[in-house]
Amino acid sequence: MATAVLGLQWGDEGKGKMTHLLAQDADLVVRFNGGPNAGHTVIDRGVKFGTHLIPAGAFYAGATSALAGGMVVDLEILKREIEEIGAHRGETPHVVVAENAHLILPYHRLLEELEGSGSRFGTTRRGISPAYRDKVAHTGVRAGDLLRPSELEQRIGWRLDLLKRVWPESEEMQTMEAKELTRDLLSAAEPVIGSISDVGRLIRRAMDAGQRVLFEGAQGTLLDVDHGTYPYVTSSTTTVGGLATSIGLPVAHPDHCIGVAKAYLTRVGEGPFPTELTDGDGDELRERGGEYGVTTGRPRRCGWLDAVGLRYAVELNGVTELTLTKLDILSGIDEIKVCIAYRLEGKEITDFPPAAPVLDACEPIYESHPGWTEDIQQARSFDDLPEAAKAYVRRVDALCGVKTTRISVGPAPEQTLSC
Ligand code: GDP
Ligand code: IMO
Ligand code: MG
Repeated sequence: MATAVLGLQWGDEGKGKMTHLLAQDADLVVRFNGGPNAGHTVIDRGVKFGTHLIPAGAFYAGATSALAGGMVVDLEILKREIEEIGAHRGETPHVVVAENAHLILPYHRLLEELEGSGSRFGTTRRGISPAYRDKVAHTGVRAGDLLRPSELEQRIGWRLDLLKRVWPESEEMQTMEAKELTRDLLSAAEPVIGSISDVGRLIRRAMDAGQRVLFEGAQGTLLDVDHGTYPYVTSSTTTVGGLATSIGLPVAHPDHCIGVAKAYLTRVGEGPFPTELTDGDGDELRERGGEYGVTTGRPRRCGWLDAVGLRYAVELNGVTELTLTKLDILSGIDEIKVCIAYRLEGKEITDFPPAAPVLDACEPIYESHPGWTEDIQQARSFDDLPEAAKAYVRRVDALCGVKTTRISVGPAPEQTLSC
């Protein structure tokens, strides 16, 4: 049985918590898109982790964690995560890396600084877009190249030659050497070098054999390179289609597609955000929700739930069930708003326009919901929730056409209700 956990907003919906919860029953847990731009918070037996690359299967003895071909991998970060989780568990997690996954090199991170994309788009500065760019330009290096070190060094050398000609004024670029970079890569690859393989085949065979496969999405639907709010997007396919291309599947059709959405909305980095609260209410949501980036520590922009964007994300991914997270953060707010349509050039629209300049011109049309005062972090069933909270959840279901089957009322795994 295959289950995908995908973010339906601009990332940070709580995918890490949900994947960790579901991974206890999985044989194989797969990250298929992006790289260490992700920051997934997991609380495992009371200890908090912020994971960037390693799938949540790493927390369980019975599960294999796979990094699929569509990813960009920073081996230093992966090594650190394997060591940290290994120390916590007292056993090294079983991690396999696809031979066709691309590697992030120090010059990718440097390029983001030199080109200014870090500040223009508010990227995570992890070298994500330069690494994906090298991939499609045929100038990338892949995990499988680590198995042929002299060829790897030659390919890095060719890339560096060109970069040094483009950036003569960058001392940092001028002093990079292929030999040293190759040596550092091989050293960082040490925990996974024996498991670099055809991970796509491994996943297909596991699915054919009826194993329990869990896909851990990274980023969110509205950051998808094709279907997100371009150009304020990430560089990978964050939507369900990414499964097919990254792994090599004829169709991306998980048995369950769990869409994760926050009960309000956040965005980190630049780009349009019609329901953003730029006043004290936004600051209050940020403080209540602890909305600071796991990867960069940046304050997240906060606002009301946007059902127009949510409907779009449900449609793009074929979401079969919703998980609504951080409902507890709304406790104590008198009036909760939800955006149900936009006003664009004097007309009301209900279809999400993903192009950034168009979305930027949209004004939200809200409906209001009465809030509740009770702290709901101790609730353990849907019936424990105040009537107003139940009504809010059911209204979200109606607005996006899919039923909420899980509600998260706190960061810990046990703070999750089924409904
Ligand atoms: P991800 O990137 O989708 O995995 O989400 P992040 O980990 O970046 O951000 C979610 C944040 O909210 C983390 O700090 C989680 O510990 C926290 N969190 C997740 N679910 C809940 C919830 O239901 N209530 C509260 N209060 N915090 C939550
Ligand atoms: P998780 O998996 C939130 C955002 C960045 C920036 C844009 C492009 O934790 O939900 P990039 O470094 O990817 O080139 O940056 O995408 N971004 C995220 N925002 N959560 C994430 O991951 C993100 N990964 C990238 O802030 O706006
Ligand atoms: Mg995150």
